[in-house]
Amino acid sequence: MTLEGESADPDILSTGLDDYAISGEAGGDEVAGSDDPFFVSKKAAAVFKHKLLKTYFPKFAGKTASTEADKRLAYVDTHAGRGAYDDGTAGSPLLVAQDVAGLRQSRQIDCFFIEAKKSNYERLTQVLANNMPAEARWHVRHGRASDHLREAVDFAGNAPLFMFIDPYGLGPTFDEVVAVLNRPREGHGSKTEVLLNFIAMAFSRAGGYLRLTDPTPQQTTTLEHLDAVLGGDWWHDIYLSSDTTATAVAEIAKGYADRINKKTGCAWTLMPVRDRAHKQPIYRLVHFTRHPDGLWEIREAAAQAGAAWRKYCSPPPASDEGSLFTLEDPFPAEEEARQAGWIDAIEHNARELLARRGEIVLPRDAHEVFGPETFGQAWLKHLRQALVRLFKEGILEPKPLARELSKYRGHAVQPDSLRRSKAVEVLPPQV
Ligand SMILES: C[S@@+](CC[C@H](N)C(=O)[O-])C[C@H]1O[C@@H](n2cnc3c(N)ncnc32)[C@H](O)[C@@H]1O
Repeated sequence: MTLEGESADPDILSTGLDDYAISGEAGGDEVAGSDDPFFVSKKAAAVFKHKLLKTYFPKFAGKTASTEADKRLAYVDTHAGRGAYDDGTAGSPLLVAQDVAGLRQSRQIDCFFIEAKKSNYERLTQVLANNMPAEARWHVRHGRASDHLREAVDFAGNAPLFMFIDPYGLGPTFDEVVAVLNRPREGHGSKTEVLLNFIAMAFSRAGGYLRLTDPTPQQTTTLEHLDAVLGGDWWHDIYLSSDTTATAVAEIAKGYADRINKKTGCAWTLMPVRDRAHKQPIYRLVHFTRHPDGLWEIREAAAQAGAAWRKYCSPPPASDEGSLFTLEDPFPAEEEARQAGWIDAIEHNARELLARRGEIVLPRDAHEVFGPETFGQAWLKHLRQALVRLFKEGILEPKPLARELSKYRGHAVQPDSLRRSKAVEVLPPQV
């Protein structure tokens, strides 16, 4: 185990705190005893991203390191936070520390954490010291992400690298993200992925500065920072010509992902996270990978995270102690109906695809089979149940098995009933 820190710089967050203010994340409830409101009550919004990380990262570790001789991979958390919330709920560093421990027989997961706020950094090192296995290799840096990215990439070396970029506000520049994704690596495949939190609020608020005729020097600096983060000023026109900030931010998020794709060849998946109170996403996660398995697994993980998030957003009705009746929780029945609808929709799509093309090949046909209504919502369980219906009907072969579904190749067969009716057609006319 290694633990290294750097001297405290009291001004280190002067820019970061500006991002923090424009991100809208600073509005957490103040609770006595905590010095960071984010880590007291903002954990609600984190349910999606943490479930996503918890589901996806072990898949990344399993697949990418399986062909590495030393079974080593690296996890980098550029905006690591305190490690855990003040009530003990795991933040991203603690979630990954649990994976380091849980997978240590088969994988060596080396970790690199960066945190700019001194009190968070101190708490983080304590949480990690308490939870990392003794033999684990991990470093914590106190400072700005941008100042430690190069070191973090060097730390990964030739091992597969998964980087989580989760700022309150604007995060690393476009060029820095491109440099990470394009890092040179000896060995087969790039094995470099980034999961980035593209917090809408930061862009929508700061974007509003574009409309000011006389922005303050601070606002001008923030706009320049936005240009650097987004890779140029291409987003200004989009912002100024959009009817609403929400449509502008949605287009800017896609434009950003497309631009990263052009510079790196990485495919992207954008995951908007909405709650019941807001129609617009409260934040968006974007994932970059070069591998089809990465695309498949992040979609699966997003669907699982969506389920956890819906459940979190629909707590059971509070029981009234004075009341004779307990209120029934409508959520389980709602969720069951929702998921049954997904299976029907996938069955419909798969049936049409089979009739049209005579085959279903995964992951190639994932978009068509899930369709816009269930892509990123339904997961393997629903896909399999839908395909099994077609198999049982006798129109799809072979049987879809859960463990091989991501590479499934099914072809159309004529059902017995059709075969029989064809046989009748060729009988000689009866006289
Ligand atoms: C959204 S929180 C991180 C949450 C954490 N990733 C998790 O999932 O539990 C963002 C963190 O980034 C830190 N931060 C802000 N600006 C930073 C910068 N430029 N470099 C590194 N960390 C920064 C903040 O102090 C805060 O702890």
